[in-house]
Amino acid sequence: MRALVTGTNGTVAPVVVDALRAEGATVLAWDRAAHPPTSAESVRQSVAEMAPDWVLHLATGSEDWAGWIAQACAAQGRRVLFTSSVSVFAPRAHGPLPPNAEPDATDDYGRYKARAEALVREAAPDAVIARLGWQIGPAPGTNTMTDWLHRQSAEGPVEASTRWLPACSWLRDTAAALAALVGRAEGGTFHLDGNKGLSFYEITTRLSARLGLDADIRAADAPVMDLRLSDPRITVRDIADRLS
Ligand SMILES: NC(=O)c1ccc[n+]([C@@H]2O[C@H](COP(=O)([O-])OP(=O)(O)OC[C@H]3O[C@@H](n4cnc5c(N)ncnc54)[C@H](OP(=O)(O)O)[C@@H]3O)[C@@H](O)[C@H]2O)c1
Repeated sequence: MRALVTGTNGTVAPVVVDALRAEGATVLAWDRAAHPPTSAESVRQSVAEMAPDWVLHLATGSEDWAGWIAQACAAQGRRVLFTSSVSVFAPRAHGPLPPNAEPDATDDYGRYKARAEALVREAAPDAVIARLGWQIGPAPGTNTMTDWLHRQSAEGPVEASTRWLPACSWLRDTAAALAALVGRAEGGTFHLDGNKGLSFYEITTRLSARLGLDADIRAADAPVMDLRLSDPRITVRDIADRLS
């Protein structure tokens, strides 16, 4: 299987590349300098030239790019996996949310991800759309809860709600679940979440201990939110295994 992956200078994509290679895939990275994603035609040509079986679109960037990749894949008989986010949902007290829950984002990032999802779905009905929660890695790096905790704890005490259940998963476990979605015959929207019931307070306290951070984490009773994602078709390893 030949996979083309976007966003490989970012946080999630390099770990997904490792997971795909571990499964025997040939992986190409989309180099935006060589293949600028500036129009439907340039994207069509780039995808045709690189000739993947699957495009895994993990980069952020314009929603048009996502739509153009899906159009190219649909026209050329290739498959596309697009990573979206729990941010397509507004904060709420009751979860977890199933894959058919209606996106109702209240912030710009969530609305952007929801629009990109819609463009991908419209152009490629067999697309795999994978919504992810907040990623937790083994060390500080860009765009993870680990990095956030490092920065917050360096500034002073960290308030963490005992009544917020976030969608989140260990980055390597997310990557393994994404690699397992590649090759699926049927498309659709999938929820990847490894949080079976830990509060933000429990997660940050355990993560701090695991990292040897000694962060001053203080239990708070707000916000009250359950933003976990559910999907009986997908197994993502329980974060409790990583944070025990
Ligand atoms: N990290 C998380 O906790 C998290 C949570 C939920 C969902 N996600 C989703 O997972 C995917 C990967 O996230 P990530 O954390 O790896 O993202 P990231 O580290 O912020 O960036 C990923 C890549 O996006 C590309 N990019 C950024 N700005 C761009 C622009 N203006 N135009 C074109 N490309 C641009 C870059 O690609 P190049 O490599 O080409 O430079 C960058 O390496 C995204 O779809 C994100 O929404 C992540």
